[in-house]
Amino acid sequence: MTLPQRVRLFEMAPRDGLQNEPGALVPTATKIELIERLASAGIRHIEAASFVSPRWVPQMGDAGDVMRGITRTPGVVYSALTPNLQGLENALEAGVEEVAVFGAASEAFSQKNINCSIAESLTRFAPVLERAQSAGVRVRGYVSCVLGCPYEGAIEPARVAKVARALFDMGCYEVSLGDTIGVGTPLVAKRMVNAVSQEVPIERLAAHFHDTYGMAIANLYAVMEEGISVIDAATGGLGGCPYAKGASGNVATEDVLYLLDGLGIDTGIDLEAVIETGTWITRALGRRPGSKVALARGTRSA
Ligand code: HMG
Ligand code: MG
Repeated sequence: MTLPQRVRLFEMAPRDGLQNEPGALVPTATKIELIERLASAGIRHIEAASFVSPRWVPQMGDAGDVMRGITRTPGVVYSALTPNLQGLENALEAGVEEVAVFGAASEAFSQKNINCSIAESLTRFAPVLERAQSAGVRVRGYVSCVLGCPYEGAIEPARVAKVARALFDMGCYEVSLGDTIGVGTPLVAKRMVNAVSQEVPIERLAAHFHDTYGMAIANLYAVMEEGISVIDAATGGLGGCPYAKGASGNVATEDVLYLLDGLGIDTGIDLEAVIETGTWITRALGRRPGSKVALARGTRSA
């Protein structure tokens, strides 16, 4: 068991972090400032928006304006969710350079989240991948509910492996494994990753863990021991999925960076700048930071 020497951190706050924000719509200018601050902190991969139906997810209704409004930092990849061809066309028009399709290991969650079965979702994704590839845009894949489903309960690792393999075979350059409701524990997470890595090379897998039960950091350490070296996280621990009741935010970027720092694993990201950004955005939303590290440092204003 060896830990990775380098980890690529994929920032989720502007998308997964804000998509479920209750109350008033977060202003487009705030989203743009958040993305630009994250890039200034040295984050090189940012999920900036989601081209889904604004009737389903109102907070992402300004995805085109966000993508067009950001001042891009060279070397930073700004990506967006695209559940179907309509979303992809809108994303291409807004100048995205990477998109993501999102499926699930649970039938019930697939129906609630994207209004179709797992099999139908894969059929829907195939032309999205073809069109994206012909436009020179990379596609990432997500599998949700990899460690449990809000409707079906426990999920067999083999079911996760099957969907991950289908997304990879279709052409997704990376498959991100989502503990959507944050119920996993380290051994269960290891078993799941081991099963999936029989079907998809481990270096093409990412961990996307929500922190509902406070296990995300332990789970990340466990799966890094299995060879995972790409981690999704949201600054301020923001977020939750609108179709997974009770799910809390993603593991906080600040907490992941603190862990990696302590392990001597390089990310090239400035932890202090991320803490400041997390403090700023959580204040702007009227929340306490969801990051333990930010709380421990005191909520300094940015
Ligand atoms: P649907 O209603 O089945 O779609 O939605 P439809 O094709 O029947 O179209 C119905 C209407 O939606 C039409 O409009 C379409 O134009 C419109 P109308 O003619 O009625 O006025 N429409 C769209 N509008 C804008 N952009 C689009 C689009 N597509 C259709 N792309 C759909 C299917 C997938 C669109 C819908 O279910 C949806 O938008 N769902 C949102 C799901 C979502 O965003 N969930 C949260 C993100 S996933 C997540 O958080 C998990 C993750 O973080 C990993 C993890 O944690 O596990 C990734
Ligand atoms: Mg998520």
